[in-house]
Amino acid sequence: MSDCPAIRVRHLWHNFGGPPVLRDVSFDINQGEIFGFIGPNGAGKTTTIRILATLLEPAAGRVEIDGMDVTMAPEEVRRIIGYMADHAGIYERISVREYLEFFADAYRIPALSVVEAVLELTDITSLQDQLVATLSKGQKQRLQVARILLHDPKVLILDEPASDLDPRARIEIRDLLGELQSLGKTIILSSHILSELADVCTSVGIIERGQIVVAGPIDSIAAQLAHRQSTDPHAHAAGGGPAPNYNARVIQVRLLGDAAQAAAQLQGGPGITGVRTTAHGLDITYVGDETAVANIVGHLVHRGFGVTGVQQAHSDLERIFLQATGNNGGPS
Ligand SMILES: Nc1ncnc2c1ncn2[C@@H]1O[C@H](COP(=O)(O)OP(=O)(O)OP(=O)(O)O)[C@@H](O)[C@H]1O
Ligand SMILES: [Mg+2]
Repeated sequence: MSDCPAIRVRHLWHNFGGPPVLRDVSFDINQGEIFGFIGPNGAGKTTTIRILATLLEPAAGRVEIDGMDVTMAPEEVRRIIGYMADHAGIYERISVREYLEFFADAYRIPALSVVEAVLELTDITSLQDQLVATLSKGQKQRLQVARILLHDPKVLILDEPASDLDPRARIEIRDLLGELQSLGKTIILSSHILSELADVCTSVGIIERGQIVVAGPIDSIAAQLAHRQSTDPHAHAAGGGPAPNYNARVIQVRLLGDAAQAAAQLQGGPGITGVRTTAHGLDITYVGDETAVANIVGHLVHRGFGVTGVQQAHSDLERIFLQATGNNGGPS
């Protein structure tokens, strides 16, 4: 079975009685990948993930995990997946060790050595006698990961594992995911914040308004997009919108003042192909050289916005994300 993709998603549609919230979602995740499932709030990440985790039946389409259909064989699928919900509740008034022993018992995992092993792997052995209620958010998150590892699943499905964590706890989760990958696990994790994931993912799927914009291994997406651009200058991203320009570059600008107003000042300016507001300011996609950057900063300062930082977006993942979605973020 190991030559089939770990996860194969084909033509998923779903609605909750109203308009479709998933529209023909398809992607593959190869064995051993860490797949970042990225999209804004309400894009359809949790809906897709709940279908993968056998908790929701799609209106149409199919999902196979390690070659098994999630709708036809949910019991078998559950044995090989570990699922962590977003904002999952957690029993608080027992110790860390009791918590894990409780779930080991529920999963009929006899050996206490398994509990020792997951405590060790998630680096919470020293916390085993503490009450769950006394753990930090990051420690609780690692405990949740420990819980879903008890039955040694091949595939981990994590909905927003890094949200609400401080930067240090996020790095610890990232390191843990890397370690799990080196043990041969396949991991899908969702986020609406790209930078949470940028340096741990080996492949990525970007979803917007229920549709996949782009999906695949990071290096092949970059090549695929560049090829699409060079062979068909009128190529459009899935979901419509203007054709992204893959020769464009992206700068991240931190600024004082209203980012949406600053974005409105820049939209349509010379060389600017996209402006997106972020927590700290703007992500600006542009075509040009250093002079173009100086002009953008000059324009903002001239309009009364204090610019406190400018940096190029470097990672391939950031570039793909911003260029694939760059025209959808700001006011127009
Ligand atoms: N149980 C439900 N009943 C009705 N509509 C729902 C339900 N669950 C989700 N939706 C709608 O489906 C769409 C997709 O929601 P979903 O939770 O999958 O998004 P998401 O990408 O996980 O967002 P977030 O980043 O906020 O977690 C949204 O428009 C949401 O309002
Ligand atoms: Mg969600």
